[in-house]
Amino acid sequence: MAILVTGGAGYIGSHTCVELLDAGYEVVVLDNLSNSSEKSLERVETLTGKKVTFYKGDILDRDILNEVFAKESIDSCIHFAGLKAVGESVAKPWEYYSNNIAGTLTLVDVMRQNGCKNIIFSSSATVYGDPAEIPITENCPKGQCTNPYGWTKSMLEQILMDIQKADNEWNIILLRYFNPIGAHKSGTMGENPNGIPNNLMPYITQVAVGKLKELGVFGDDYDTPDGTGVRDYIHVVDLALGHVKALKKIEEKAGLCIYNLGTGHGYSVLDIVKNFEEANDIKIPYSIKPRRPGDIATCYCDPTKAKEELGWEAQFGIKEMCADSWRWQKNNPNGYEG
Ligand code: NAD
Ligand code: UFG
Repeated sequence: MAILVTGGAGYIGSHTCVELLDAGYEVVVLDNLSNSSEKSLERVETLTGKKVTFYKGDILDRDILNEVFAKESIDSCIHFAGLKAVGESVAKPWEYYSNNIAGTLTLVDVMRQNGCKNIIFSSSATVYGDPAEIPITENCPKGQCTNPYGWTKSMLEQILMDIQKADNEWNIILLRYFNPIGAHKSGTMGENPNGIPNNLMPYITQVAVGKLKELGVFGDDYDTPDGTGVRDYIHVVDLALGHVKALKKIEEKAGLCIYNLGTGHGYSVLDIVKNFEEANDIKIPYSIKPRRPGDIATCYCDPTKAKEELGWEAQFGIKEMCADSWRWQKNNPNGYEG
């Protein structure tokens, strides 16, 4: 069975390719490499000893999508492709709505024309806005997003739900990721951000490797135990395994399903700094900075539904996330570029 993985050269996509291949699936990747390197797929092949069929192309391009469906026998699609930088989305809303929404509409149209109506979509905890309940269950109402990136996720969820409602041959699983960090334990694959990282863990690893001087902690006056923001960090390999479980659910004719993928534990920014220091025996200098606009105090999930319905739960703890993130950064100070 071949699975089309859009955005498969990226951070979460490449780790998911490893787990799919290990589980015996054939993997076809479509990626325009706008935020990734083909080298990640070479590493996937080395780690698994299996081939990935790669098409360099865009989900907005019907011709390449039709070529993929003509040449490969695709059963299901795991749809990671999208732009994801929150700050950039505020400056470039058109680019985000076009790439993420028009791209997904094109992909889904070509899929149905080719008789493939199974899709797993990368959504985000961001759709809950400032969450109405903690821990967040899937029944928590969606909230106001604070940026165009978040709205693309929220709108695409609605679009996909409406498509499934109108045509129940579709099996659609919306996976709401919490905060993916960590890397493959081999230290050969990991997150490869362009420029100065926006997210906490890549910023910490770049301080650790000496590329950045100190971490800025965005606010210490939130209503949290130590005043810094609390998040549900999840190991990227656990997230990848969640997709394999979701595929099994699709094979049972799932209809429409929504799952939170997180650990259910909240860690503050200072908890992460402390755990990173302990796991790796490295000091991370930091200073307290003003709050970052759009940030919320606390965000962690109740992952019970995914456990009950998918048989999935996170296996890796915070120390492994910190150790694996560091192993990747240390071995690859410039990411896939050497
Ligand atoms: P990533 O940027 O590493 O991967 C996305 C991939 O999609 C990249 O390889 C990029 O080149 C490709 N891509 C982008 N636009 C494309 C297009 N039009 N056509 C073909 N390929 C295209 O990001 P990631 O962290 O691996 O995230 C994967 C998905 O998960 C994204 O949809 C993201 O929004 C979502 N997500 C990520 C996080 C996170 O914190 N990393 C959290 C929640 C949701
Ligand atoms: N933080 C710092 N300093 C930094 C970076 C982050 O203190 O240099 C803090 C933030 O203020 C926040 C926490 O670390 O309290 C986590 O911040 P991230 O930027 O790593 O992650 P977010 O929770 O803000 O957002 C991430 C993704 C979103 C996604 C969301 C939920 O960037 O796209 O997780 O999945 F929607």
